Amino acid sequence: MIVPAALIPPIEAVDVYKCFRVGAVRYPALNGVCLRIETGDFAVLAGRSGSGKTTLLHVLGGIEVPSQGRVRVMGHDLSECSKGGRARFRLHHIGFVFQAYNLVPVLTAGENVALVCEMQGHGREHCLSRAHGWLAEVGLEGLQDRRPDQLSGGQQQRVAVARALASNPAIVLADEPTASLDSTTGAELVGLLRHINQTFGTTFLISSHDDQVIGAARRVVRLQDGRVLEPGAAAPPAPGFTCPEHEREERHRLLRWPRSC
Ligand SMILES: Nc1ncnc2c1ncn2[C@@H]1O[C@H](COP(=O)(O)OP(=O)(O)O)[C@@H](O)[C@H]1O
Ligand SMILES: [Mg+2]
Repeated sequence: MIVPAALIPPIEAVDVYKCFRVGAVRYPALNGVCLRIETGDFAVLAGRSGSGKTTLLHVLGGIEVPSQGRVRVMGHDLSECSKGGRARFRLHHIGFVFQAYNLVPVLTAGENVALVCEMQGHGREHCLSRAHGWLAEVGLEGLQDRRPDQLSGGQQQRVAVARALASNPAIVLADEPTASLDSTTGAELVGLLRHINQTFGTTFLISSHDDQVIGAARRVVRLQDGRVLEPGAAAPPAPGFTCPEHEREERHRLLRWPRSC
């Protein structure tokens, strides 16, 4: 059966667990997350520090694979893709704003923003000109030739946002994108993201504690202890999950499972 694109949910997590090892102990940072973000949504992922927001965005964006469970984005099962397949998918469909910005230190702001466009196969001059336009959109006009160490934390954060938007993604996953901004600059950035959402139908999932971001959300998803807290519900039930000895990707490699991406 052919499913029309409009009916495919862009982001779907089904019973997702993600384990981390600390010393000899393995524990789940995500504890059975079930989540569906509809096309064109402007959703905010809220929750205390340590509740699993960054881990969930990394898993939804294919940066990490879940230890158990499924992640489907625009109908593609990222939990079954190789690392390279996930990176290719991200390159063409997802703009990711990292909590720690992850700018390339030896490149200028303009080159950082142009990089994804160049990796998509467009010419350097076209990408640099597009990058300068996006830097102006986030309030950094004229700063394109500075390297990250010549920019403030808030300016670096806006370069990271411009980089995510410059690839024309269908989905933007942004990890606390206003955390280093003052309230005026933060409000301007939220206004820009909402404008892009409303103009182009781009789907946004943004992790944040910021009231301005939460206030702009069409939907707020609350995380607690690695689980989605349903509206009005008490603390989530204690999960009975035991982290596996080996991570999923290692098992893929060992068993040579077929890969679809
Ligand atoms: N790479 C890692 N190794 C070990 N523990 C991690 C790692 N990343 C996150 N964690 C742990 O997982 C939990 C969730 O972290 P995180 O997703 O960063 O939460 P949040 O973004 O909500 O602050 C925390 O207890 C954190 O210490
Ligand atoms: Mg975080």
